[in-house]
Amino acid sequence: LLLLLVTALVPACAPKAIDYEQVSPNDKIVIRFSHVVGEDTPKGQAARLFAKLMKERTNGKVEVQVFSNGSLYKDSEEMDALSEGHVQMIAPALSKLSSLVPELGVFDLPYLYPNLDGYHKVFDGNVGKVMSNSLAKQNMVSLGFWDSGFKQFTSNVRPIQNPLDLAGTTIRIMPSAVLDDQFNLMQVKPVEMNFNDVYLALAQGRIHGQENTVSNIYTKRFYKVQKYMTISDHGYLGYIVIIDKRFWNQLPANFQKIMIETMNEVTEWERNQAVKIEQDKLNAIYNCSCIEIERLSVQEKAKWKQFYQPLYQKMEQRLGRAFFEELGL
Ligand code: LMR
Repeated sequence: LLLLLVTALVPACAPKAIDYEQVSPNDKIVIRFSHVVGEDTPKGQAARLFAKLMKERTNGKVEVQVFSNGSLYKDSEEMDALSEGHVQMIAPALSKLSSLVPELGVFDLPYLYPNLDGYHKVFDGNVGKVMSNSLAKQNMVSLGFWDSGFKQFTSNVRPIQNPLDLAGTTIRIMPSAVLDDQFNLMQVKPVEMNFNDVYLALAQGRIHGQENTVSNIYTKRFYKVQKYMTISDHGYLGYIVIIDKRFWNQLPANFQKIMIETMNEVTEWERNQAVKIEQDKLNAIYNCSCIEIERLSVQEKAKWKQFYQPLYQKMEQRLGRAFFEELGL
């Protein structure tokens, strides 16, 4: 029984690493795609659609197996899992790649662009290419930039209307120097934590709040253990869909082509879907009447953006004026 149990558990816990040198072109191609969010989110839905289309378009020769909710690897583990060949695709938040590619940190600057189009233009242009080249040097091929949306604050201490309203509290962040600075400026203690540990930490009162998109707040039930949410739209949460470069290089050219075309199509779909899902989940949270919701006005957002200016100055010093000009800043 023990053996049975172990055999049943092993594939789910630690998929065997694939030695890409040993893969024959005639083998069925299995791609393990690991991510940390729920199924009913923009990333969750798009990963599934990508898997479905790849199967159809390759007559089942390419099977993308999607593992959601961090069921295979946590956010802090997935980069290693990719480089060691345990999984072949991941789609981490840009923030989580900012220690590898410092330029990506710029997208953590609060109120960088007023709408998602501002981000898309940059990702789909030259800056996106530069980022992809930097990732390629680290054995990661970028297939697309996906959205989650804009982040909102939640807390169980007090309503958040002004930048210093969270002062003195402890807030969970993703690993990112800019996010660290953002909360230090707000006189908050930032704590890095894996995404799937946040609910329990909030429920147990080990942290007072967090920032995330509505789809994540809803699907991970953060709103059930928080008293206040502010629709601040202060920060962007998006992803780079990445495939391991060594794996990619040994894929037959026709499959690479199908994959690129499919990814472009799915990316367009994902970005539209992200907006719809955010709205749906916000309605669902409103309907449950279980959390007090504030909304920042356009004027208030301008005030917050002003408050965050030191972050912009620091980043510009770090990355240079030329890069900021490319970003249209
Ligand atoms: C988070 O850690 O809060 C997010 O990056 C999770 C995700 O992938 O959307």
